[in-house]
Amino acid sequence: MRLARHIRRRTDAVRSFSAPTMPVAKRHDWLSTLEDADVANLNARCSKIIEGADAKPYNRDWMDKCEGKARIVAQPATTEEVSAVLAYCNEKRLAVTTQGGKTGLVGGSVPVHDEVILSTTRLNTIEGLDKDTGVVTCGAGVVLETLDAYLREHDFVAPLDLGAAGTCTIGGNLATNAGGVRFVRYGSLRGACVGLEFVKADGTVVDCARTSLRKDNTGYALPQLLIGSEGTLGVITKCCIACPSLSPFVNVAWLACNSFDEVRKVLTTARSTLGEILSAVEFLDRGALDATLRAHPDIEDPLETDAPFRVLVETAGCDATHDAAKLERFLEAIDVEDGCVAPTTSAMNALWTLREGVSDAMTSRGFVYKYDVSLPPSTLYDLVEKTTERLEHLDVDVAGYGHVGDANLHLNVCDVTGYREEVHALLEPWVYEEVARSRGSISAEHGVGQCKPEYLHLNKSVEAMDLMGSLKKVMDPHLILNPYKVLPASVL
Ligand code: FAD
Ligand code: MLT
Ligand code: ZN
Repeated sequence: MRLARHIRRRTDAVRSFSAPTMPVAKRHDWLSTLEDADVANLNARCSKIIEGADAKPYNRDWMDKCEGKARIVAQPATTEEVSAVLAYCNEKRLAVTTQGGKTGLVGGSVPVHDEVILSTTRLNTIEGLDKDTGVVTCGAGVVLETLDAYLREHDFVAPLDLGAAGTCTIGGNLATNAGGVRFVRYGSLRGACVGLEFVKADGTVVDCARTSLRKDNTGYALPQLLIGSEGTLGVITKCCIACPSLSPFVNVAWLACNSFDEVRKVLTTARSTLGEILSAVEFLDRGALDATLRAHPDIEDPLETDAPFRVLVETAGCDATHDAAKLERFLEAIDVEDGCVAPTTSAMNALWTLREGVSDAMTSRGFVYKYDVSLPPSTLYDLVEKTTERLEHLDVDVAGYGHVGDANLHLNVCDVTGYREEVHALLEPWVYEEVARSRGSISAEHGVGQCKPEYLHLNKSVEAMDLMGSLKKVMDPHLILNPYKVLPASVL
């Protein structure tokens, strides 16, 4: 039997503009302001320019937390047009924010002030797949789910998958070095990206996609500089991604655990008994589960227990009998409160919706303070408990969930009354300092964006930050690319 993969809803690109926005960095005085003559010049260089009210939705971020004031959105259809737009903006000292699917969760993809938005969504050609190597070559604006569907037609899959797959672009995934639910199986996108074409701030096109073979040790790995750079070093226009073969037989187990230690034991047992067919290990706590169940009244938790944690374990393999035997051994080896295996594809989809629906469920309920951290597994959940205790006197919802297989916790605090300085001040810098004290990362997979530059020092040494500043100045000497993001002003 060949099971269809779960299909996530295509996330809405435009949402209501109701929530208050976050405090923002002061505008850099070395940057110019867009004049009518600039708009005319950019119109001559780029086949699609969006202006006025039509540009407004591109200014507001996914979470309704950040809003820029860009007058125009340039939507180039080719690398040459990207180059022409950047060359002009660089010459005129006009700041540019690159935007893919706008699903980023740290305010990186929207302007802070009046930056020109460069939307990559028309760079959406899939050039082809080399079936010998599994390398697919495509434009940066290809939507991840579209790419994955194309690959599945050829018995391959994208090496990453995430809840925003129906909207995010592969260029945005690369620019944020997105993790997602398959990281535990396929590792970082850094390893899968074998070639990249990008455009520097001055419009120079850098072709690092001349070979799309896995092995290439010809000096500096320039594509790696762009991966995770969040639009601050260049615009990714094309990429070559090494893709794994499709594992068509999928099973999803849903387990209830009484403690986070039990969750961790499930993970270690899953690793040892399932081996190469393990394709996801995700967890939700009670706060996250309640939120996602509330947002999806059509879906029931198949487990009736009040146990405080759920774990989703997915396997994907090539031999149904062998996979079933392994799954059986795994289920026999674990000691949990309750559990089940989804009997049908739609039951699997429902369980995935419960897990991947947490993010939107929280955001649609109120203002969300969102933390995406990695921590040593043994103390990973302590942060949620400490946060709950710290905010006990305030009427807020605290939820912990994430990619437990990668020691990646998502801590969300949702305030239905909206943004409150009092809550913010109790959370920051406290959360980040707690994470740094445990030698964790203040951004496991979402990036730094405009939300965390002032906390970068908690993870990076002075020397490392200085080198980041120097690289920025080499790649973008007039500092036009995605200002106020990633780097603190002190290193520029
Ligand atoms: P955007 O949001 O448009 O941009 C993100 C950043 O990349 C910005 O700084 C932007 O300037 C830059 N950028 C975009 N395209 C380019 C380009 N071509 N060249 C240079 N810079 C560029 N992230 C995870 O890591 N794991 C998850 O599991 C995960 N799940 C999510 C689930 C939901 C429901 C949502 C809404 C988001 C999730 N995210 C997750 C966050 C987000 O990082 C990813 O959705 C995705 O990688 C962003 O892609 P995008 O095309 O939307 O990029
Ligand atoms: C997830 O894993 O669901 C995403 O990273 C989104 C989020 O953190 O809310
Ligand atoms: Zn995540």
